[in-house]
Amino acid sequence: MAIGIGLLGLGTVGSGVAAILASPQGRHPLVGELVLERVAVRDLSRPRPLTLPPERLTTDPEAVIDDPAVDIVVEVMGGLEPARSLILRAIAAGKPVVTANKAVIARYGQEIAAAAAEKGVYVLIEAAVGGGIPIIEPIKQSLGGNRIRRVSGIINGTTNYILSRMADEGAAYAEVLADAQRLGYAEADPAADVEGGDAADKIAILAGLAYGGPVERGGIATEGIDRLDARDVAYAAQLGFVVKLLAVAEKVEEDSAAAGDGHGAEPPDGVALDVRVHPTLLPKHHPLAGVHGVNNAILVEGDPVGQVMFFGPGAGAGPTASAVVADILNIAGIRQVGGPQAGLDPLLAASSWRHCSLVDGSMTRHRNYVRLRTRDEAGVIGRIGTCFGAAQVSIQSIVQLDAREGEAEIVVITHEVREDRFREALGAIEALEGVEAVAACLRTL
Ligand code: NAP
Ligand code: HSE
Repeated sequence: MAIGIGLLGLGTVGSGVAAILASPQGRHPLVGELVLERVAVRDLSRPRPLTLPPERLTTDPEAVIDDPAVDIVVEVMGGLEPARSLILRAIAAGKPVVTANKAVIARYGQEIAAAAAEKGVYVLIEAAVGGGIPIIEPIKQSLGGNRIRRVSGIINGTTNYILSRMADEGAAYAEVLADAQRLGYAEADPAADVEGGDAADKIAILAGLAYGGPVERGGIATEGIDRLDARDVAYAAQLGFVVKLLAVAEKVEEDSAAAGDGHGAEPPDGVALDVRVHPTLLPKHHPLAGVHGVNNAILVEGDPVGQVMFFGPGAGAGPTASAVVADILNIAGIRQVGGPQAGLDPLLAASSWRHCSLVDGSMTRHRNYVRLRTRDEAGVIGRIGTCFGAAQVSIQSIVQLDAREGEAEIVVITHEVREDRFREALGAIEALEGVEAVAACLRTL
């Protein structure tokens, strides 16, 4: 039975999807049932890697959704609008949706899920996180028997590609970013990649699925790699670390509040989470430290499974299209057995089942890397140590790395400390005689 596909977008991902549908040989037999009926693009005159009959292309995405031959709508155009409205239009028409649009899902996921539940259609999003890595369905389904402690990972291919090439080749930031754009890894506006917003969208989605309820996207503390200094990448390497853009969502333990550190307690009807994105120093032996180039990896820690790591290409046409087609096949398979007549499967539809709240970041606990620019004179390191001690910040190591012409750079790595105490120490250090600047401050695992 032929299943009509309507594609909204024929850029990097859309072209990858069209290429799979155009060559079903050797793939699952259901791929051969999928017919690319209509495709919406912005510019009909743009050359395309795949030739499609001209009558299948349109600049009117609504016409794709409304076409009676289209059974499944695949949104791969990106951006917030009209993508959100088009997804809602497809749902209202009773058509299941597959989307790779993490920006829309992270912000409007609840609205979309509610509309989909009401209409009894699936909206599947495997391609929205981790490119070709199957991570959404494993979190929704395969790990459902676990209490999830932490989800952490490298979930932006562009920034991992940039950081890897900067570290390995000493390549210049702007040049590597241009390569990432040319290779189809970067977002239409690459600021979303380098400023951390794309990773924040993705960790909001992963946390929402792992912990069973929507996570407020705007509450995620986000820092990208755009202000990262190559000098810190080099110093980190000297100290046995690699720098990665890490996204983390972790359950804040109940006993943290009981211990009086104000970390926040799990509300009776929900879960308290610390969710954040920032460049992070990883010890070289950490499982995520060996993830290079455009690859992503997501480490899920749960009870009773322990640690499970998902690894693979995090961006690009082929890998992302692989994830999109997996979702299409899931829907096509259900359709082949008559559709979701008895209602949606709560695991596949990922219905929310509890409230997720974000804790106050100043009360969370982390290890830190600090680079200070100081005068190279007696007593400076002692005064810095005193400030940390006064704020109850325990130091793991303190080294002077580069001293010349009366100036020095001092790098401090702290033990795990509460954020507000760490900030208090930095405030006092900034005001110290002999300290010229707190030049960099990064999280450390
Ligand atoms: P892209 O290369 O910029 O392609 C976007 C496509 O959508 C283009 O074909 C464009 O038409 C079309 N389009 C945009 N606005 C439109 C409108 N208003 N009406 C009709 N067509 C419109 O983007 P992409 O890299 O494929 O990404 C698409 C989505 O997938 C985004 O949500 C992105 O975040 C997500 N994603 C991308 C990757 C990746 O590796 N690239 C990975 C995972 C998820 P024209 O071709 O005529 O310009
Ligand atoms: N721009 C995104 C990235 C695409 O680099 O990871 C994949 O979601």
